[in-house]
Parts: sequence; structure tokens; C-alpha cells
Amino acid sequence: MGKLVDPYGREIDYLRVSVIDRCNLKCFYCVPDVGSCSPDVSEVMSLEEIIKIIKAAASLGIKKVRLTGGEPLVRKDIVEMVSKISEIEGITDISLTTNGVMLNELAPALVKAGLNRVNISLDSMNPANFKKITRGGALKKTQRGIKAALKAGLTPVKINVVAMKGINDGEIEEFVKLTLDNDLHVRFIEYMPISKSHQKQWGECFMPISEIQELCEKIGPLEEEQTYRGNGPAAYYRIQGAKGLVGFISPVSRHFCGKCNRLRVTADGKIKPCLFSMDEIDLKEAGGDEEKLKELFMRSLDLRPDPHQVDRNPESRFNCSKREMQQIGG
Ligand code: GTP
Ligand code: 5AD
Repeated sequence: MGKLVDPYGREIDYLRVSVIDRCNLKCFYCVPDVGSCSPDVSEVMSLEEIIKIIKAAASLGIKKVRLTGGEPLVRKDIVEMVSKISEIEGITDISLTTNGVMLNELAPALVKAGLNRVNISLDSMNPANFKKITRGGALKKTQRGIKAALKAGLTPVKINVVAMKGINDGEIEEFVKLTLDNDLHVRFIEYMPISKSHQKQWGECFMPISEIQELCEKIGPLEEEQTYRGNGPAAYYRIQGAKGLVGFISPVSRHFCGKCNRLRVTADGKIKPCLFSMDEIDLKEAGGDEEKLKELFMRSLDLRPDPHQVDRNPESRFNCSKREMQQIGG
């Protein structure tokens, strides 16, 4: 069987695996309506199932694996999982997207197991605002997690900020200032509408990258980063002389589908051909057989859209996925 190349000629070498759909925070832009989203009921894949899936994907050319959630660190066997993934031939980069709450305790063990780097969600540096956005979270824990990640060498440490009007737009300059003396990549992300439950608040809070960038430039001109390119959707800049970088992720106003290099697997074992896709392919159909798993990955390629419809089609904008973000992992 060949490599993962879709009908538009895009090569896939990056797999995002949601390892659990539960999260210890409830950010309102991720789960707008806690009642309507029942993330705890899915049949979460076992460690063995996940490893078999990643092995099959690696034999088709997947080199980079990102573990997502929910919150991946609430999974009890996360360290063992990283260790097993690091033994898979062909995997050269293992990363994790986390809210950082449990990173202080887990960072050293994760590094030892073979984790290369982390991306950490942090939408406010004000304790009260952080608590409001996350519906109860403690800013200190995430800040401790960021420090622990830097200390453990899980670099580059990337900070994900979903920038939202009236919510944290007043803090954008402060986030940019964070890059001046810290070796952090602070990335501003456009709020993505993904289901009907976002309709009202998305209309109120969405900020296009152009507006976000204008606020960033109040700190100083942004120079296009020459050395760090990244692996995905972010475009990187630097305030002259700053230690860290500023990144922009613009899935809505300036999509990056042309260079999309990734597939996703949900915690209950479904391939999502695109983040904004109703289609899902059930990997459990393969019964753990490697050849069958590979066939299902190959089949998912034909379902990949180019581009996704979220930016251009107001009809489908709030109707792109059967799942909330928490159940996909971003
Ligand atoms: P690296 O570049 O490997 O560090 O990963 P990343 O930035 O893709 O991962 P992360 O989980 O930190 O995602 C950052 C933001 O980009 C999240 O809001 C994701 O939902 C979004 N994102 C990542 N991949 C895609 C994609 O393929 N399509 C869209 N629309 N958004 C994506
Ligand atoms: N729009 C943009 N980014 C989102 N994330 C979760 N939900 C959304 C959304 N609706 C981000 C999280 C995390 C990453 C995996 O996805 O902040 O950093």
C-alpha cells in the first residue's frame, strides 16, 4: 500500500489522536453548552487500540503524532502511551496539546517517555477572566504547567490563545509582551464555529486575524520569522529582538487547507478526514487488523475536502461537525 496522498495531491504525515474526550476544564468556546455535549459516554479506545492505529498510520508515512483530548493528561496511561509511541518505527515527533493543569506533575515523566513538545492553551492571564473562560479553572496551575514544560525541555513551548472580542481582546498586547523575554511561541487562534451551539456567541466574539494582528502591532512591528516554520497552520512573526514568536492561526478568515498535512482520530476511534467534516470512518471495523486499518486510512483520503466550508458558506458554518471541539481535540 502506498503513502497517504489525497486526491488534491496533499501528503499526510501528521496524525492528531484524541486519546480521551473528557476534560478537567470546560472552556466556553470549546463546549458552548455543557448540557448538550455528553463527552463522557463515548467508548474511548484502549491503549492497545491506539498503538495499533498509530503503527498502521506510521507504515503509511505518518511521521508526527499529536495527542489531544479532551485533556490528554487526564488519561491514566498517558506516560505509557507516549513511551509506546516513541518505539514505533517512523515516528519522529510526538507532541501533545494540553491545558497544562497537570503538566507540573507529569512533564518530567513525559519527557523520559519520549514526548518532544507541548502546546498549551491559555486564553487569559487574569485569574478571574481565566476562571470565567474555563468555567472554574485556576490560572496558577496552567502557569505552573508552562514553567514545568520549559524546564523539562518540551520545546518549543507553544501557547494557544483563542482571541475573542469582549472576552480577552484587551489582553492581546500583554500576550505579545510575553514573547519579549520568554522563549515561547504565543499563537492567536480565530474562534472556530463548529456546531449550532456556537451560533450566538460566535457572532458576538469572533475576531479575524487581521484585527488581532493590528492589536499585536501596537507593541511593535512584526517581522516574518525566517528560521522557524512549524508543522501546521500557524504563520510566525517576531517583534524585533524578542526571544519568542507570535503566531497566527486563521482557519476562518484565511484558511490553510491547501497545505493541510493531517488526519484526525477521535477518542472513540473514528477518522475525521477534516476538522470541519461530517464524515467519519470507524476504525473499530478493522478489529485491530493492521492491513484493514491501513485500508480505512486510505479510504478516508477520498473524503478530504479542499477547502473546508467554514469560512465561505454561512449555511454550513454552524453545521460542520457532529461533535463539539472537546470531542475532536481541535
Ligand atoms: P504544531 O504546528 O505541530 O505545533 O500543531 P498545531 O498548532 O496544529 O496544534 P494545536 O493542537 O496546538 O492546534 C492549534 C489550533 O490550530 C487549534 O485551534 C486547532 O484546532 C487548530 N488546527 C490545527 N490543525 C488544524 C486543521 O487542520 N484545520 C483547522 N481548521 N484548524 C486546525
Ligand atoms: N476555536 C478555536 N480554537 C479552539 N480550540 C478549542 N475550541 C476551539 C474553537 N472553537 C483550541 C483550544 C486548544 C486547541 C486544541 O484547540 O484552545 O488550544
